[in-house]
Amino acid sequence: MMISPDIKSEVRDRNDIVDIISSYVHLKRHGNNYTGLCPFHNEKTPSFSVNQRDQYFYCFGCHAGGDVFTFLQKYENMTFPEALKFLADRAGITLPEVEMTEEMKRNLSRKNQIYDALKAAENFFYQQLRSERGELGKKYFASRQLTEETLHKFHLGYSLQYSDALVNYLRKKGFSDDIILDAGLAGFSERDGLYDKFTNRVMFPIYDQAGKVIGFGGRVMGDAKPKYLNSPETAFFEKRKNLYGLQLARSSKAKQFILCEGYMDVISMHQAGFTQAIASLGTSFTPEQAMLLKRFDRDIYLAYDSDGAGTEAALRAIGILRQTGMVARVISMQPYKDPDEFIKNLGAEEYQKRIDEAENGFLFEIRILRRDYRIDDPAEKTKFETEVAKKLCVFSEELERENYLNAVAEQYGIPKDSLKKRVISEAARGGLKTAQERVQIRPANAEKKSSAEEHAKYAQRLLLTWLNEDKSCFARVREYISAEDFTDPLYRKIAERMFADLEAGVFRPVEIIGMFDEVEDQEAASEVFQTKLATEVAKEDKEKALRDIVLRVKQESFDRLSGSLGSDVSALNRVVEGKHILEKLRRIERI
Ligand code: CTP
Ligand code: MN
Repeated sequence: MMISPDIKSEVRDRNDIVDIISSYVHLKRHGNNYTGLCPFHNEKTPSFSVNQRDQYFYCFGCHAGGDVFTFLQKYENMTFPEALKFLADRAGITLPEVEMTEEMKRNLSRKNQIYDALKAAENFFYQQLRSERGELGKKYFASRQLTEETLHKFHLGYSLQYSDALVNYLRKKGFSDDIILDAGLAGFSERDGLYDKFTNRVMFPIYDQAGKVIGFGGRVMGDAKPKYLNSPETAFFEKRKNLYGLQLARSSKAKQFILCEGYMDVISMHQAGFTQAIASLGTSFTPEQAMLLKRFDRDIYLAYDSDGAGTEAALRAIGILRQTGMVARVISMQPYKDPDEFIKNLGAEEYQKRIDEAENGFLFEIRILRRDYRIDDPAEKTKFETEVAKKLCVFSEELERENYLNAVAEQYGIPKDSLKKRVISEAARGGLKTAQERVQIRPANAEKKSSAEEHAKYAQRLLLTWLNEDKSCFARVREYISAEDFTDPLYRKIAERMFADLEAGVFRPVEIIGMFDEVEDQEAASEVFQTKLATEVAKEDKEKALRDIVLRVKQESFDRLSGSLGSDVSALNRVVEGKHILEKLRRIERI
């Protein structure tokens, strides 16, 4: 498409990137920068930053970045013209009639045709269920006690016994064989050509969250295998990125989503009034699905089957949800297997009670863990408590950790103080893994100053120098480092002032030097801004080196702090937080 750069700029200027992104991501302001949890990868501490002055975003974790158009293209899966149109409309700008290249026209029309074919198929299946030929399907749904209203709400349908019913229907409507194939609605064989993928099954259309049909699940009406046949994975139908029922559940007023295992569970839940029910699409719950749900800011209640496989799946989902920063709870369906069975036997009112009593995901994990240990055996009991302590380390916020610690201690009769001590030692242990440093961080005149302390001071000085030389590093560094991390008292003082000034955008090295009355200190302060690496680092390696330096400073501060831990709660809090930051730093290449 030929878009004049002026139009593009005008549309961009009239849509503040912070406005746009904050309607999807919860952003916190830090000066010119806004930070939040990256919507493009799974993380618990924010590495996603939006720069308001320069109108771009960047993720230090996964390196996603770009302008407001890029964001929508990535996040909403829009093409550039779609993003342009969306933002122009939003700002009330009328776009001039644009010329598309032939290829763009083809692609756009192809995409639309595939969606149209899926929509037509949905209609076809829906009509068949209601025709004489759909008798079997109707009977099946009746045996599952689904009402007409429910059948309509989920647009349930039926695929005929004939192997070319849908293909013929779509061809008559003018869809080409290519489109029918690409929509995942047909297979191809040399002998028969195109044949219907779904035959003699009750059909469950699957929608994206906006309500567009993207695929189907088809269930056999008896015990044949496979029980369900699903549309093949395509660019339009990505199982790991969509959820069954979300297009309906998103407008439910409930304060949670209920995540079920299967299509039928979702449907019978909705029929019983639980319109917040959703399910993944025949695969286990994915981080992408967690990210999708996170936008809605609700807790996730799990209604997985109460068998071993269901419990395993629930544990996995709880882990994923926690990493995405969401609260999970587990609904007990005992003595029944799944929500469908439960509601049929005990009714909606009882189910509501189970929702209200749902167990916290973490406590659920501990309860399952507990089964592996014989608590009447002191050695086993110790092991169990150690495992509990390790698990408690996942909470980096003190209050949250404290609350979980208290709950677990109470539930399992573990003395709080001893559990807390164990958490401290586990947190410290986790943080002490050796760092992999790629750049040699050592003083230039290594012979003279070679003590461990000098090395530590050197890294701190180097960091301050780099921050002075390239102030743009600061936004990235401050995510990991605070002034408290400088173990040298003088450097800490400098860092305190320097960070505050950088934050306020008024930083000048002379002001820092001027803070000190003693010449000795003034000299030392000057040195801080003059530190050089032992070996010159190539420009492109600088960012990696920066990460290494930050890691070194953090490690030193962490080791110091965890080595001197008493029962000081705020220090413990910093140790646990430090452990998380160190883990993150080790995972990333550059900052
Ligand atoms: N599933 C699938 N393919 C299969 C079996 C299961 O894709 N061969 C997926 C479907 O999304 C299904 C979910 O796994 O909904 C759960 O499977 P299951 O519990 O067997 O099915 P239900 O939906 O509960 O259906 P029903 O109540 O009819 O057994
Ligand atoms: Mn089931």
